[in-house]
Amino acid sequence: MTVRWERAGDVGLVTLDAPPVNAIGLAVRQGLADALDWAAVRDLRHVVLTGAGRAFAAGADAREFDADPVPPHLPDLCDAIEDAPVPWVAAINGVALGGGCELALACRHRIAAPGARIGLPEVTLGVVPGAGGTQRLPRLVGMAAALDMIASGKPVTAETARAMGLIDAIADDPAAAAAALTAVPGDAVGRRPRPAPDAEAVAVAEATAARRMRGQVAPSRAIGLVAASSERDLADGMAGERAAFLELRQDAQAKALRHLFFAERTAAKPPVDAGPATLDHVAVVGGGTMGAGIAYACLNAGLRVTVTERPDGIDRGRANVERVVASSLKAGRIDAAGADDRRARLTVTAEPPPDATLAIEAAFESMEVKRAVFARLADALPSDAVLATNTSYLDVDAIARTVADPSRVVGLHFFAPAHVMKLLEIVRGAATSDRALATGHALAKRLGKVPVTVGVCDGFVGNRILARHREAADALLMDGALPHEVDAAMEAFGYPMGPYAAQDLSGLDIAHANRRREDATRDPARRYVPIADRVVEAGRLGRKAGAGWYAYDGERAVDPAVQSIVLEESRKAGIERRSFAPDDIAERLVAAMANEAALILEEGIAASPADIDLVTVLGYGFPRWRGGLTWHADAVGLDRIAATLEVMQAEDPVAWRMAPLLADRAACGAGFHDR
Ligand code: 3HC
Repeated sequence: MTVRWERAGDVGLVTLDAPPVNAIGLAVRQGLADALDWAAVRDLRHVVLTGAGRAFAAGADAREFDADPVPPHLPDLCDAIEDAPVPWVAAINGVALGGGCELALACRHRIAAPGARIGLPEVTLGVVPGAGGTQRLPRLVGMAAALDMIASGKPVTAETARAMGLIDAIADDPAAAAAALTAVPGDAVGRRPRPAPDAEAVAVAEATAARRMRGQVAPSRAIGLVAASSERDLADGMAGERAAFLELRQDAQAKALRHLFFAERTAAKPPVDAGPATLDHVAVVGGGTMGAGIAYACLNAGLRVTVTERPDGIDRGRANVERVVASSLKAGRIDAAGADDRRARLTVTAEPPPDATLAIEAAFESMEVKRAVFARLADALPSDAVLATNTSYLDVDAIARTVADPSRVVGLHFFAPAHVMKLLEIVRGAATSDRALATGHALAKRLGKVPVTVGVCDGFVGNRILARHREAADALLMDGALPHEVDAAMEAFGYPMGPYAAQDLSGLDIAHANRRREDATRDPARRYVPIADRVVEAGRLGRKAGAGWYAYDGERAVDPAVQSIVLEESRKAGIERRSFAPDDIAERLVAAMANEAALILEEGIAASPADIDLVTVLGYGFPRWRGGLTWHADAVGLDRIAATLEVMQAEDPVAWRMAPLLADRAACGAGFHDR
């Protein structure tokens, strides 16, 4: 039974009970319809609507969005609740999102538990609210507040909801408080006057959505629907909203965003049954930028953290963590008490803490340094403590062999800034135990990150694909494009930043060091583009040096000096430069990355194409609304990707040799995601 109802005195209690989060699928809708019928003839004073478990309702069941809608439809149920013979009161025990929020808006009165969160996150799934949200919310809280919530998709806390008039009261036991009402105050939201128009708020919402959700269609549609609520009566407004919702849920963007929503939840499930180490005290080795970010992420999650540094680096390490604490405080993400609490749980010292159950090494990228660190950690920490390395490129198996029991070692590859980026690549080495892997997953959950389990190889999933992205981009420079043209093409594709602007941001030195590391093993038949080396040799190490692929005099600016390097190297190689259209540039870079994705899958480095999509979106800025690299490649068609690769292969047969998996799938008209 996904909806239960009972009588308590002269009050009806209707409980949504579809674990784990009361998503509103067909069975719940049918249950609600039955509950409405039951309540209509029971001579009740009022009806309390609540949810079992941790949620009021997580919204419409997104697993149904690929099929045709089946009645009873949610907007009709919301109307029926609003028009019911006795008032309904929403007792919001936990999250009320999307359709869950819309059910609450249809009720006459709303009481929420202190920890509840309420919102209309539909745009994050590429759709608009489809059961009255765009029409009832502005009638209740006004145009500006409704636009802000609906266009951003961000939920608000019960406290904020109370302050803005979205709910009427907060109570520890909202169902009991709702049942105890002797008379239900308030009126039907849908019968309230239309909200006043607010052109300025609409313009702000449009500008914010264009900036924060660039390329996405749903936010603008949602804004238009909310704005129209000041002109349309409820039925008319809801009809327009429903049509937009049904149209958008079939749209490619919505399908891509749903794919990622479910991929994130699948990735969050540990691939092993073992129990993790208890997470309480974490040692972070190295107080540089990455170590400080990791330490702060752990402090944010309530853990005790000891950062270990060389004696002469202790002050610098403490200052680095403090810088993150201070900037979070300044940005209002934490308050002064929160900052002090984090400081109180932090120790910065030269000695590894003997009671830490997990150590995360974020020391200098050198095998000698790592070996020394791991030997020391193995000595100092309990024998069952999990030892993790944050290496980006070094061999996790070689690091593991440093310790007597290599099963304790796992890779935890964070992305900078580590306290912000949602992705955590969990690297399973040849000897990594299930417990060590489970500990990585438990940490990801605790830190609110999306874990993707990957195998050992140079660069794991993300950096390996990034390397091919850069290689293809550098080939374009040699053959006729300029860095700002490549960047503009990829920004138009949907990346927040093109590959050269991104390199300037992170610094050109690490990639340069990697190229030197690869010199000894690079296939001499493979095309080598020396342009990046020339840029580095000119002292242009990126933003931090004031110059890189661009000049930085405040703003990023195209630099003729870089153009000269590019043109000179083309000339030296005897290349007749040609022009590349933006679409051509994007197609080549996507084909290069897709080919690497196919190799990664063939080698078992990633468990699924969905995992690769998560890595590219959450770690590397691949546009979310395209669903990630392999999802997008399927949308383009692998036959077309293969055709682009064939062109690239003709220019450089070694670098762009086609992955058999890609060739096979392209030949039979299948995609990465076809079984
Ligand atoms: N539809 C289908 N399944 C859903 C769902 C939804 N709306 N929301 C959550 N689930 C599933 C998850 O896939 C997961 O399933 P699994 O265990 O099989 O992997 C399970 O519920 C638990 O979800 P989480 O792991 O995410 O649990 P959390 O406790 O971490 O988070 C949550 C709970 C905050 C509710 C989060 O799941 C969430 O944000 N859900 C989506 C909310 C949303 O976007 N709602 C709008 C839907 S569209 C809509 O309502 C249209 C309407 O206007 C007509």
